[in-house]
Amino acid sequence: MKKNGKVFVIGIGPGDEAYRAPAATRALMKSDTIIGYKTYIELIEETLEGKEVIDSGMRKEVERCQLALTLAEEGKVVSLVSSGDPGIYGMAGALLQVKQQRQSDIEVEVIPGITAVSAAAALLGAPLMHDFAVISLSDLLTDWELIQKRVALAGEGDFVIALYNPKSKGRTIQIEETQKILLKYRSKETPVGIVKNGTRQGEVVIVTTLGEMLLHPIDMLTVVIIGNSHTTMMNDVMITPRGYGI
Ligand SMILES: C[S@@+](CC[C@H](N)C(=O)[O-])C[C@H]1O[C@@H](n2cnc3c(N)ncnc32)[C@H](O)[C@@H]1O
Repeated sequence: MKKNGKVFVIGIGPGDEAYRAPAATRALMKSDTIIGYKTYIELIEETLEGKEVIDSGMRKEVERCQLALTLAEEGKVVSLVSSGDPGIYGMAGALLQVKQQRQSDIEVEVIPGITAVSAAAALLGAPLMHDFAVISLSDLLTDWELIQKRVALAGEGDFVIALYNPKSKGRTIQIEETQKILLKYRSKETPVGIVKNGTRQGEVVIVTTLGEMLLHPIDMLTVVIIGNSHTTMMNDVMITPRGYGI
């Protein structure tokens, strides 16, 4: 009888193995095949021995999902790898959508991971202690008009705002427009934290202000956290008060 395959959708955390859930490592160890974007595969090298490894380029998400399900239908245990958490701008949604479309009955297990904004917040202090909004500035799959509206509403609502995919080589104006929008709602002294490569090689942590944030390097390996109107910055530690009356 044919063996039952399975797909794990795994979040490997922000980078350092110490921040990867043991459940993720266990699933990787159990897998016959590991599929993911090249940069993420390199972060889990120690789990790859004896396994079939299929690395692919960016923007091949749907193909990766189809392949994972096809291999599982052949009886393989497959891990589909995302950085951070697979359900936060990761592979979990696409895999489940493709599974539905194929009307596949393959077992899927989503294993959560520490998302980039949690790792970045810990490096900066405690900027997410009150309500916050996470916004991706990538307009590849979302209309720029809608992203601007979300930035404005999060600004008006005084949310702490974390920006994923803030800037790429070909996409530079979005972070400038975001700063302009937020300056309508917050002072230019509002604390901002910029974390590049959090918990992995090349880590850079910068604290700055909303007025000066664009003077610092920001790219696709970076998360930007913009404080709310109560966020403070002291000795490079960013804190958003919860309201304990301290
Ligand atoms: C497609 S999203 C993937 C997010 C991922 N699923 C997560 O939960 O962290 C890629 C964006 O996540 C952010 N990112 C991921 N890992 C990071 C890290 N270690 N340090 C800083 N930013 C990171 C960057 O903003 C990057 O452009």
